[in-house]
Amino acid sequence: MITNTELEHKGNLYPTGLISYEHDQDTVNFITKNGVRLQLTILRDNMMRFRYTTNGIFEHDFSYAVDQNHPHGFNHLEISEEDTHVVVKTEKFICKVAKDDLRVGMYEHNGKIILEDELGFHWEESFEFGGNFVKMSKSSKDQESFFGLGDKPTNFNLKGKRLSLWNTDQYAYGKDTNELYKAVPFYMGLQQNISYGIFFDNTFKTHFDFCSERRNVTSFWADGGEMNYYFIYGPQMTDVLTTYTDLTGKPELPPMWALGFHQCKWSYYPESKVKEITSKFRELNFPCDAIYLDIDYMEGFRCFTWNKEFFPDPKRMVRELEEDGFKTVAIIDPGIKIDLSYDVFKEALDKDYFCRRADGPYMRGKVWPGECYFPDFTNPDVREWWSGLYRELIGEIGVKGVWNDMNEPAVMEVPGKTFPLDVRHDYDGHACSHRKAHNIYGMQMARATYEGVKKFNFPKRPFIITRANYSGGQRYTSTWTGDNVATWEHLWLANVQIQRLCMSGMSFAGSDIGGFAEQPSGELYTRWIQLGIFHPFCRVHSSGDHGEQEPWFFGEDVLDISRKFVELRYQLLPYLYTAFYNYVQEGQPILKPLVYFDQEDVQTHYRSDEFIFGNQILVCPIQEPNVQGRRMYIPKGQWYNFWNDNLVNGGKEIWVDAPLDIVPIFIKAGAIIPKYPIQQYVDQVEIKQMTLDVYYKLGKENSEFYEDAHDGYEYRQNIYSLRTFKLTGKEDEVIIQQHKSGKFSASYETFKLNLHGLPFEIRRVFYENEEVPLETLQYNAEDKSMIIKKDFSELQLVG
Ligand code: GLC
Repeated sequence: MITNTELEHKGNLYPTGLISYEHDQDTVNFITKNGVRLQLTILRDNMMRFRYTTNGIFEHDFSYAVDQNHPHGFNHLEISEEDTHVVVKTEKFICKVAKDDLRVGMYEHNGKIILEDELGFHWEESFEFGGNFVKMSKSSKDQESFFGLGDKPTNFNLKGKRLSLWNTDQYAYGKDTNELYKAVPFYMGLQQNISYGIFFDNTFKTHFDFCSERRNVTSFWADGGEMNYYFIYGPQMTDVLTTYTDLTGKPELPPMWALGFHQCKWSYYPESKVKEITSKFRELNFPCDAIYLDIDYMEGFRCFTWNKEFFPDPKRMVRELEEDGFKTVAIIDPGIKIDLSYDVFKEALDKDYFCRRADGPYMRGKVWPGECYFPDFTNPDVREWWSGLYRELIGEIGVKGVWNDMNEPAVMEVPGKTFPLDVRHDYDGHACSHRKAHNIYGMQMARATYEGVKKFNFPKRPFIITRANYSGGQRYTSTWTGDNVATWEHLWLANVQIQRLCMSGMSFAGSDIGGFAEQPSGELYTRWIQLGIFHPFCRVHSSGDHGEQEPWFFGEDVLDISRKFVELRYQLLPYLYTAFYNYVQEGQPILKPLVYFDQEDVQTHYRSDEFIFGNQILVCPIQEPNVQGRRMYIPKGQWYNFWNDNLVNGGKEIWVDAPLDIVPIFIKAGAIIPKYPIQQYVDQVEIKQMTLDVYYKLGKENSEFYEDAHDGYEYRQNIYSLRTFKLTGKEDEVIIQQHKSGKFSASYETFKLNLHGLPFEIRRVFYENEEVPLETLQYNAEDKSMIIKKDFSELQLVG
């Protein structure tokens, strides 16, 4: 235990003695002798916000992260006083605030500790920037685990790590590189089956220590701003994460093509090269939905221009690509070339939209086009103007998606690789320096881009991808993990990073498949594809400096195996789309790390190779060269090996064969998995019949299948269809019940059911509670399939 004297010695200050507290309906204000105030607000039965100020004055309450429409409201609140504490009770937990130093403790109603302050709130004055380093420390149990924090390229369980959040362009980063492209100051703790979350909504550089410096202490602090954090109680991680995602917002559904396979490179040009690539995909029957244009499509890297020599008629090209089933996605960076004859530059200059240094001159920095100025995306007028710049690119030329890059913001050839800290920002009317705006600069750029693409692509849905982001940025954009490297370690990292992003509210994420820097072997490329098809965003990208990375570059075998897996993704699109729907509706992550899937099972707490894709598909990538299989953990319950339908009882490690054309995939017993026929791109064909893969289980399991028009907004007018299947299996019987909501009517009339693992021969069939001859369902005893009307409500198969 550190004493107060020791703390003072270290320059830390802390609240002294409560003078008074008062409360209204949802807020309790505490005032201490040395002027510290704590404002505690109850937002939900399981969520409380804590704000501290050291001089009695709170900053204007403003957050880019918090979704203004987030659901809130609580059912019960009780405030009482004990000798030493003020006690606030919600329906879900109890919070006690100590009168002598404002230390806070959170408890379950049964008295169990959820989380207690160690030193609690303390601070250190900074004479360098005239503010405070604001700090918080919590006690931690030995067996506690930590998850979250965005894109950190390190062990999935963060126990023992000390990390900071400062968006940074990290070309060819490595395992344990600290600062990366995104700042997501949110983590979940898990101890003794109790989970909670901390969202530290502070956009300055923030720091997190998970029992690294001191074994039983976690702490988080910031280089400025307010100690302003949200405590979220579980006890299930799913309660924590969905509450966090409610608070910081969910995206709208992407167009389904955005979930297809995407091909990218730095750079495909001129037009003939782009066409050569897209034609090759079609010629080789390799499904692909999108082709990307990196910076070389522009005129001298000037955003919103085209190099007319390479792309003489972009509108025609984009249309022709579209006719061939390809959507075009184009890159747009924040740096605007200093060039008075360039209208985007001229306009922003005239309107005073560029960032300035503290003493007045423009912030000047080098990026791809050479010397640039940078729009201040934290100014709402600038965002409005920026969104308008997409009129031609999206509205007229017909580009369907925009890729925002270098928006950490990245500046070349300067120490720190970004803006000097004195640069000024509007921050939506709360003027501040770059110290505060740095971590949200990229998010605000992506937000402006989203508004623009949405406006000019309407009534179709927008697609945006960004490199930098902050909590809440998931409302506007998808993301990727930046400039990785073609190594086996990076394949491991991609797996961990995407699971971590899913656990940080940002499910729409992927890595540069194959690696951005350097060149993968055919084997590494294949293994990466086998992982990448299970990532919500699935794109091959490379710097192009070291050779090609199209699927045909590595020879026939790699091409065939890669195709087989990309085809599997296309078959699973309705399943992935349903997982996306659950993410958009409830904030459920699209990938579920095993600890999230079954936190009670301590075996899962340090696992990160295996994950659940959606709700019912278990995947374990192969992350090493020259292997014919691996050991993997099968979570509790029963699982079918996807490749041979062998049933495995989970709760243990097993050996799984995985030669190059196999990646371990298991399906949860009882699952009903919707599948499309293989297509070369989304909506290539009208679906005539849907396949449902039905996996028998002794017991019950629910599955869902969401559908809509794949694009547009009619789904918001109830024009969607949500089917819930309830499977109940007995020794010699299986019953499938279907419940459907929504008004969408699909193009097909029937389902083809493929029955897996049925332990009996079907003798009798009851359809809508009436016995029918087996032939009515065109039962095929050989492949165990049958055809059934799509809107059936009950089917019973009896042995
Ligand atoms: C950055 C991006 C990369 C892109 C390149 C050129 O390095 O991370 O994806 O290809 O810039 O625009």
